[in-house]
Amino acid sequence: MSYNLLKGKKGIIFGALDEKSIAWNVALKAHEEGAVFTLSNTPLAIRFGNLKELSEKCGSEIIPADATHINELEDVFRRSMEVLGGKLDFILHSIGMSMNVRKSREYDDLDYDYYHKTIDISAMSFHKIIQVAKKLDAVNEWGSIVGLSYIAAQRTLYRYNDMADAKAMLESIARSFGYIYGREKNVRINTISQSPTRTTAGSGVKGIDALIDFTERMSPLGNATAGECADFCIVLFSDLSRKVTMQNIFHDGGFSGMGMSLKAMTQYKKCLEDE
Ligand SMILES: NC(=O)c1ccc[n+]([C@@H]2O[C@H](COP(=O)([O-])OP(=O)(O)OC[C@H]3O[C@@H](n4cnc5c(N)ncnc54)[C@H](O)[C@@H]3O)[C@@H](O)[C@H]2O)c1
Repeated sequence: MSYNLLKGKKGIIFGALDEKSIAWNVALKAHEEGAVFTLSNTPLAIRFGNLKELSEKCGSEIIPADATHINELEDVFRRSMEVLGGKLDFILHSIGMSMNVRKSREYDDLDYDYYHKTIDISAMSFHKIIQVAKKLDAVNEWGSIVGLSYIAAQRTLYRYNDMADAKAMLESIARSFGYIYGREKNVRINTISQSPTRTTAGSGVKGIDALIDFTERMSPLGNATAGECADFCIVLFSDLSRKVTMQNIFHDGGFSGMGMSLKAMTQYKKCLEDE
């Protein structure tokens, strides 16, 4: 059901790869809610993903960019304002990647070139996107910028590895830049801490099935899906959340508030009986 929450709003959605992507779901909902926007991803992702299909569905232009490269980000912002006919109201940063995770390098045996890339791609790119937006004065007053985070920023989760450090930095950027951009231009910056979700990035974490089962048992409302995450992004882009900024908001079915649940305890007891 559409509420026209984003009617007349313009934006950029970074990070849609395929139909499983959180950003893909956000694009479909934003379109449904009346927004116009451009889509951006790396040239490689555009070649190997299904972005063309999404762009046709949403009537959105695809603008290639590696989000770690300032000049390419500047192109994305300039071109977006050109094709959308003015300044932006929302930006989604839905970008993450760790070669250490991909190559199963444990946290006490990190490859530092990979580590540097993890931080640059998954966290510093958030800063770069916001800084480019601000320098180009590309965002309207009361605009909203959202990044996607994970609870590994606060708690240690086996195998999340150097991505935990990137997420801690991402959330910190939302606070630090949120103060400046809010003070000067009334622009909001928040992160959403989403449940584990079976996407390409999510499936890179080995053991994601066990993790998803665990968090499902632990969360009173169950895991949040990519579609539900998209709904929440729309709320944060909309005028209904105008005074929310510098926050990391858990969108995880209640997982972050739990220590032990009946469902998890029951499963754990079964394992003890098998021993
Ligand atoms: N899937 C989960 O379990 C989960 C949970 C919490 C948060 N998140 C976060 O959600 C965001 C989106 O991930 P997803 O789960 O939808 O997976 P996804 O694989 O669909 O999306 C990740 C995107 O990052 C893009 N990307 C990688 N390097 C890039 C670069 N240099 N420049 C521009 N784009 C680049 C990829 O092309 C891809 O589109 C990420 O920040 C991820 O960490 C995911």
